[in-house]
Amino acid sequence: MTVASAPGRTARHYLMCEPVHYTVSYEINPWMDKTRYTDADLAVRQWRTLRDTYLDLGHRVDTIDPIAGLPDMVYAANGATVVDGVVYSARFRYPERQPEGPAYQKWFADQGFVTHTAAQTNEGEGDLLVVGDVILAGTGFRTERAAHAEAQELFGRPVISLDLVDAHYYHLDTALAVISSSAEDPQIAYFPPAFSAGSRAVLEQLFPDAIHATEQDAVALGLNAVSDGENVVVAPGAVDLAGALRERGYTPIPVDTSELLKGGGGAKCCTLEIRS
Ligand code: ARG
Repeated sequence: MTVASAPGRTARHYLMCEPVHYTVSYEINPWMDKTRYTDADLAVRQWRTLRDTYLDLGHRVDTIDPIAGLPDMVYAANGATVVDGVVYSARFRYPERQPEGPAYQKWFADQGFVTHTAAQTNEGEGDLLVVGDVILAGTGFRTERAAHAEAQELFGRPVISLDLVDAHYYHLDTALAVISSSAEDPQIAYFPPAFSAGSRAVLEQLFPDAIHATEQDAVALGLNAVSDGENVVVAPGAVDLAGALRERGYTPIPVDTSELLKGGGGAKCCTLEIRS
């Protein structure tokens, strides 16, 4: 019997934002219910566990200062997309989040990165996921198709547009996880019902060997996972996904971000990868 093996861990560099101002005070996705109680202390504890998990795995974590009045700033993945040290700024769809785009862009500029101000609406790595030599790009709820073209022009990498059709999976990173971003051995997991028929066919063609997540995985936001090529930080409720990962030689690392799920995000949403 051959035992499948993961391509192997590579050290990562992440940007995160501590949820000290966390609350659900508006509703811009079906997970958010502003009448429900949120516990900012619990959100901070879960967030710190997530950050410490990355540090224990040997990754670098930088943080951006949270800004009062921007409760969704904890979802750092939406703040920008960084490929080969080039920063494509976010331009948020909803007014409630719009100040986050310039805030993240300023952080990158202050660190010495060259940043590009987006002309088109895009929510960063929420909808733009680097896998191997290509970028998978979601549209339908937040990021506009025109932003896919803008990202392709900026990064000089093929950008493949995918149509999201279920409002619960409004960002690509809630419906699809990059398990291996290695160019030699790219791998993804996704929840097929979140995509249009044409987009499912494209994913089948590009990733015939992909993991198909179950509904239970998807509702736990299990696809909002963060992989370093070996270790995959994943919601504890995504048991089928964890099993499928183990079968392929990956190590699932359950981290509970239940409090942050009330805003419609999980581990990946809290994690922006800086690719220099
Ligand atoms: N409340 C946020 C929103 O609706 C959640 C963002 C989650 N982030 C993500 N990368 N999916 O915009």
